[in-house]
Order: sequence, then C-alpha cells, then structure tokens
Amino acid sequence: MTNKKIYIINGSPRKNWNTAQMCESFANGAKSKGAEVEIINLYDLNFKGCRSCFACKLKNGKNFGRCAYPDELIPVLDKISQADGLVLASPIYCGDVTGMMRCFIERLTFPFFEYKQGYPSIAPKKLKTAMIYTMNISEELANQMYPDMYKRTEFMIETVFSKPVRICAYDTYQFDDYDKYVVETFDKGKKLKHKEEQFPKDLQKAYDAGIDMCKR
Ligand SMILES: Cc1cc2nc3c(=O)[nH]c(=O)nc-3n(C[C@H](O)[C@H](O)[C@H](O)COP(=O)(O)O)c2cc1C
Repeated sequence: MTNKKIYIINGSPRKNWNTAQMCESFANGAKSKGAEVEIINLYDLNFKGCRSCFACKLKNGKNFGRCAYPDELIPVLDKISQADGLVLASPIYCGDVTGMMRCFIERLTFPFFEYKQGYPSIAPKKLKTAMIYTMNISEELANQMYPDMYKRTEFMIETVFSKPVRICAYDTYQFDDYDKYVVETFDKGKKLKHKEEQFPKDLQKAYDAGIDMCKR
C-alpha cells in the first residue's frame, strides 16, 4: 500500500456529470491503493488566468518560481506543488479544454518554466500526471480533430512535471432529458445506449488509471 497524495482538478462546471464521475472513479482507484485523494472543483474558486505580473521570474524575488497573485487559487497551487500525483479533467468546449482549465494551466505551469537554455523545470517535485477529457463527439471524430489540441494542452504539463496519461470519454450524455432541448444532430437512443454500455467502461479506465498512478 502507498501513501501518495493526489489532487484531481475538475474543470467542468457540473459537479455530478461526466467529468466529475470520471474524477470520482479515478479517485476511487487511487484510494483503493491507499492514496489520499482530493478533488478540487475549479468553478468553485474565484480566480483568473495569469496576469503577466512576472513576480515568478523576478531576479532574487521572494516569489521566484511561484505564482504570487493573491486569489483563491494560491492555496491550491501551493498544495499541488508538493503532491505526488495530479489529474486534470475537463470537458471539451469549442474544441478545447474549458477556459477555466486553461487559466488554471497557465497559473500552475508558467512559474515552473524557467526562461533558460532548454527551459528547465523548477517544479519542486516531478509529479505523476494524467489528463481526463470528456466530449460529445465520437472517438473516431476526436482522433481526427483533437490530436493537436491534446498535444498543445499537455505540452506544459509534460515540460514541468511528466508526460500525462490520457483518458478520454467520448460521445457523452449531455442533457438530463434530450426531449426538452433542440437537438437534431445527436440521436437520443444512441446516446442512451452509449451511456449505458460504454460510459461504465470509461469509468473503469479512469479507475484503473487511478490504481496505475499509485504504482508508477
Ligand atoms: C459550451 C460547450 C461547448 C462544447 N463544445 C464541445 C466541442 O467542441 N466538442 C465536443 O466534443 N463536445 C463539446 N461540448 C460537449 C461537452 O464537452 C460534453 O458534453 C462533456 O462531456 C460535458 O462534460 P460534463 O458532463 O462534465 O459537463 C460542449 C459543451 C458545452 C457546454
């Protein structure tokens, strides 16, 4: 049994839906191996993206290598920098992770990215990392459309911490009741079938990745 500390960041505004359930399942997998896990809902926190204050890059600055903008993200960033594992989970919005998740990635990674030859990481720990993406489109379409987005999103995480494991849930069930909304492009029956047959397998992948993070 391990005693690892893992933070899971839910970048969805919805606390019980697809992304949140993937987070919960990852957490349960990690907990089954003795990890201490905390899920943090980004939309509960009052923060914005990087303000370009450059306190994190100031010569002899007291906040060199650390984000110092005083808001509700700071205690979270401080905790994460000492963790063993980090999971970033986001729905895809308009072909990318959510705006909140992008703001979070800026604040988390930029201070650890040193403006020196080779851009060495000055993160205090090389955390194990994973990315969870949930999206409306099919796996086939995502494989055509999103490889560049995955790479771009994961670039800073890999540079400052480690190459993230990627877990995706495609074709997610988006509405409580499809009949209440104008939806012509998605078939309610197919969505329900996918939710009942495939989504439990996606949750299992997240659970297994949670176990795996404790082993790696
Ligand atoms: C504003 C908005 C934009 C979206 N854009 C996309 C998109 O570009 N591609 C996609 O596959 N799904 C898109 N979706 C669907 C969500 O990514 C998908 O339903 C996701 O699983 C929702 O996560 P949640 O259930 O945790 O909220 C969008 C949803 C919203 C609300």
